[in-house]
Amino acid sequence: MAGSAPFRLGVLGSGEGSNFGAIVGSCQDGTLSKLPAGVAVVLSDVEDAAILQRAREADVDCAHIAPGKFRTKLDEAAEAAYIEALNVAKVDLVVLAGFMRILKGEFLRAFEGRVVNVHPSLLPAFPGLEAWKQALDHGVKVTGATVHFVDQGVDSGAIIAQETVPVSDDDTPETLHERIHGAEHRIYPEAIAAIARGEIALRGRGTIKAAR
Ligand code: GAR
Repeated sequence: MAGSAPFRLGVLGSGEGSNFGAIVGSCQDGTLSKLPAGVAVVLSDVEDAAILQRAREADVDCAHIAPGKFRTKLDEAAEAAYIEALNVAKVDLVVLAGFMRILKGEFLRAFEGRVVNVHPSLLPAFPGLEAWKQALDHGVKVTGATVHFVDQGVDSGAIIAQETVPVSDDDTPETLHERIHGAEHRIYPEAIAAIARGEIALRGRGTIKAAR
């Protein structure tokens, strides 16, 4: 990350890391480069996750931090280790990019109002796992991608940005998820840039574009 970049992102992911790729690309020569912003650190709960390999290839600091004894969340020691690593990297915004653990309590207090997530549906429809499969199972004709602030619930925080994605009759889970990924890669860097520019304000349970 360029030493002069003032807006520092800490990216957490468990899988492929394509959203990280879109964000780091935007930091290099897209919307985020104009701020400027940079990815200060990538952390993963999965030791061999492709997102860590992508981070190494992009020359971004990264680490595997074991999640501890629980299946769906971090245990107390792991939570403290994630908070410490993000603080050491001096991140301004925590960016969840396919991080498959629920973050609560201490973590959200440490980064209050500074944790965002991307979800592969038009929330509040289809929260939780494999939202693209939920959409196919439900037979919807349109689904999409959502960027939202993270709160204590599951995929329930204030919505920042959404893009619709059409569902085709012959879609498979893979083809639909790929199309949703395309939407995610467009809206996530733009939403992060809007937050960094101070343009996003909370109103009710959602957000509005704030006058600057
Ligand atoms: C993305 O589709 C993201 O929305 C989803 O995981 C995928 C990660 O892809 N996240 C969730 O379902 C969280 N509830 P990536 O690793 O290629 O960015």
